[in-house]
Amino acid sequence: MRIALASDHAGYDLKVCVADYLRARGAEFEDFGCGPGESVDYPDYGVRAARAVVEGACDRAILVCGTGIGMALVANKFKGLRATPCPTEYAAEMARKHNDSNCLTLGGRTHASDLALAIVRVWLDTEFEGGRHARRVQKIRDIEDANCK
Ligand code: RB5
Repeated sequence: MRIALASDHAGYDLKVCVADYLRARGAEFEDFGCGPGESVDYPDYGVRAARAVVEGACDRAILVCGTGIGMALVANKFKGLRATPCPTEYAAEMARKHNDSNCLTLGGRTHASDLALAIVRVWLDTEFEGGRHARRVQKIRDIEDANCK
């Protein structure tokens, strides 16, 4: 699995922690910015990672801003992306099991790094349950097909 990683300035330090964690677990990832010490606009970086997923260069994305909210708003504009801000490990587990989340968003100002890494671990290690949840996710796809160009 190849992961697209991105942040704005408010998520930069946590993104570095996530990158270190991914490296330690031997996960493949690409960092789409931002770099250190710059104040940037989160949509400019979220869009790069989101595009890498919808174009197939990456399988999933992890996006970090101040709260995880702005990055989720950006990623969810992309057809096929299911971006989920996950404040807890339980939310991450359910986001995978029930929502087939393919984009985790985290907040550099809301998540302590140890909690964030525990959330990343659960999100990476949990499989989608399918079954009735596949029907529900398909309904999201149907809504996209009917409403998004
Ligand atoms: C940046 O100050 C902050 O607004 C941004 O990181 C994010 O939290 C937006 O959702």
